[in-house]
Amino acid sequence: MKKLMIAAVATTALFSSASFAQAPAKAATCVGCHGADGNSMVPNFPKLAGQHAAYLEKTLKDFRDGFRKDATMGPFAAGLTDEEIKELAAYYASQTQK
Ligand code: HEC
Repeated sequence: MKKLMIAAVATTALFSSASFAQAPAKAATCVGCHGADGNSMVPNFPKLAGQHAAYLEKTLKDFRDGFRKDATMGPFAAGLTDEEIKELAAYYASQTQK
């Protein structure tokens, strides 16, 4: 029983620490172009990894609200909430640029 408790606590600790670096749900739609951790493999898709969160947040809002226009990127920013943008920005900012 005691072992079981320890295992449960360890698992919880693992999950809560891992969830910090875990990609937000919306990042699934960005993977194809920007890579799973924001390190895009293709030069015409900018790398997001390690970019400043404030910059990512502003630029995503600019795409969403039509201040920055791009036929490829624009549709993916459309419909993101402020909260989702904040999570995406924090996630990519926490990744290491390779
Ligand atoms: C179909 C490919 C594609 C998908 C999917 C896509 N993007 Fe982009 N993204 C681009 C392209 C192309 C650009 C460059 C646009 C430009 O030059 O203005 C861009 C630019 C950006 C930028 C600006 C980077 C900079 O350095 O200024 C951010 C931030 C960004 N994308 C975030 C995202 C996020 C977050 C998602 C998912 C919700 C996403 N993108 C999905 C293609 C894509």
